[in-house]
Amino acid sequence: MLRARLIGTGSHVPKKILTNHDLEKLVETSDDWISTRTGIRQRHIAVDETTSDMAAKAAKNAMKAAGVSPRDIDLIVVGTVTPEMCFPSTACFVQSQLGIKSGAAAFDVSAACSGFLYALDVADRYIRTGAAAKALVIGVDRFSRIVDWKDRSTCVLFGDGAGAVVLSAEKGTKGVLSCHIHSDGRHWEMLYADSPCPPSPFEEKHISSRYLKMNGNETFKIAVRTMGQAIGEAMETNGLTPEDISLLIPHQANLRIINAIRDRLKLPDDKVYTNLDRYGNTSAGSIPLALDEAVRDGRVKGGDIILFVSFGGGLTWASSAVRL
Ligand code: UT7
Repeated sequence: MLRARLIGTGSHVPKKILTNHDLEKLVETSDDWISTRTGIRQRHIAVDETTSDMAAKAAKNAMKAAGVSPRDIDLIVVGTVTPEMCFPSTACFVQSQLGIKSGAAAFDVSAACSGFLYALDVADRYIRTGAAAKALVIGVDRFSRIVDWKDRSTCVLFGDGAGAVVLSAEKGTKGVLSCHIHSDGRHWEMLYADSPCPPSPFEEKHISSRYLKMNGNETFKIAVRTMGQAIGEAMETNGLTPEDISLLIPHQANLRIINAIRDRLKLPDDKVYTNLDRYGNTSAGSIPLALDEAVRDGRVKGGDIILFVSFGGGLTWASSAVRL
């Protein structure tokens, strides 16, 4: 049986750092409020690079770690909701920037903060069915373009960043063990960002706020519930107990959400990865960025089982279990 084995990880964040103290000068907030309510202390902001620039840099690092060349990749799937253009896709820009062979398939998936796990699910299916042999899966977002920097209830939460993995079709026990992706479009108004496109002259009514809007309190509650369910699905499908899990990598939105999930699962602190203090919520970039750090820091090694879980606009939520 073919499995999608993770043979390389990579990430990239822009150089510019915006601290909580910097934000105190932009909106009425405080380092104390942001760090106690969210766990975030700073975030990275793209200044002279686009979404696809960040994606390509993360992907290049992942390909280097995997020891694969641009001619080896036959599928690129990018999870993002902040592409620089309506089309072409960010995946096509990545293909062009990295010189990945002509004829490879390249497309984006839109699932907000669940974008990476949605992209992983798609690529995993291509690999298991034999439709692709080596896939590049990227999660990237540049929320600094869509947050309202005058709205303290949202602008303090997000940062820019990208992460990537290379998947290889291999026989054996290592690789993606399961993916579960879900959505509930009835609650789209909990968290959304309208189109940045100008209105058409034929439109009768154009409702556009352009900026990201979020009902934080409700989103928080649904996030804890659905991420708990998604983890349950991953564990049940694979017959896992908490002891079998080497590391849980949750979407990095709020430390209080992560702690609530950790307590539900009765996992010790050192089995739950967090880096949102340094990056904030990087949306689709959050999970692969954390994975790359965990791999490079030696927090995980070959054979370890990792659980990923995410939640985002849509509403969407997802989980995945992987044996490294
Ligand atoms: O990645 C996608 C998924 N996103 C999430 O999962 C986010 C989920 N939601 C959250 O993380 C939290 O709800 C927030 C961090 C967004 C907000 O935290 P909260 O503890 O739910 O605060 P709140 O919205 O209930 O606001 C409490 C108070 C309010 O003031 P009053 O009405 O009590 O006087 C807000 O106006 O805090 C005020 N406030 C702030 N004060 C200082 C809101 N934002 C700020 C701020 N600085 N940045």
